[in-house]
Amino acid sequence: MADDKLHEKLADYAEDAHAMEQNDLKMLDSMISTTDDPQVREMIEHHKGETEEHEQRLRERLEAMGRGTSTRKQAQAVGAALLKGVGDQARGDKAGKNARDGYMAEHLEIAAYQLLERLAQKAGDTETAEVARQNRADEEEMARRIDASWDRTLELTLEENGLRV
Ligand SMILES: [Fe+2]
Ligand SMILES: [Fe+2]
Repeated sequence: MADDKLHEKLADYAEDAHAMEQNDLKMLDSMISTTDDPQVREMIEHHKGETEEHEQRLRERLEAMGRGTSTRKQAQAVGAALLKGVGDQARGDKAGKNARDGYMAEHLEIAAYQLLERLAQKAGDTETAEVARQNRADEEEMARRIDASWDRTLELTLEENGLRV
């Protein structure tokens, strides 16, 4: 019985992670549409491809667990601030805001996958643990890429504001 509850909890976590990836896809689309710099755009588009894989891997695990992939949780999964940087858009600081929101979103994903992996291991679900590990590796790489680009991000932000320093 405790086992059943553990599996149910695991399915809940996988569902949340799946909703998180769906939200991230929207966020990445919004970032792509507000990014002119070719290098930054390439970085975001590359991660969008990975994010589609994350979503698909989780969908397959949810199906294996007998859970559909309802969009029920989608709206509540990630704070509104992460979705679009709502309210920030008008201020002409998109490069900086996108990088900040992206950095935050990647770390949210990393934390979610750390927990999902461990919960899956406890429940004896090695396949879900592996998906969590694979997805997390991409999030960590993306976080590293954003982390390596703060100087460029500031430069782009200043350019957006007509401030050349
Ligand atoms: Fe992801
Ligand atoms: Fe990500």
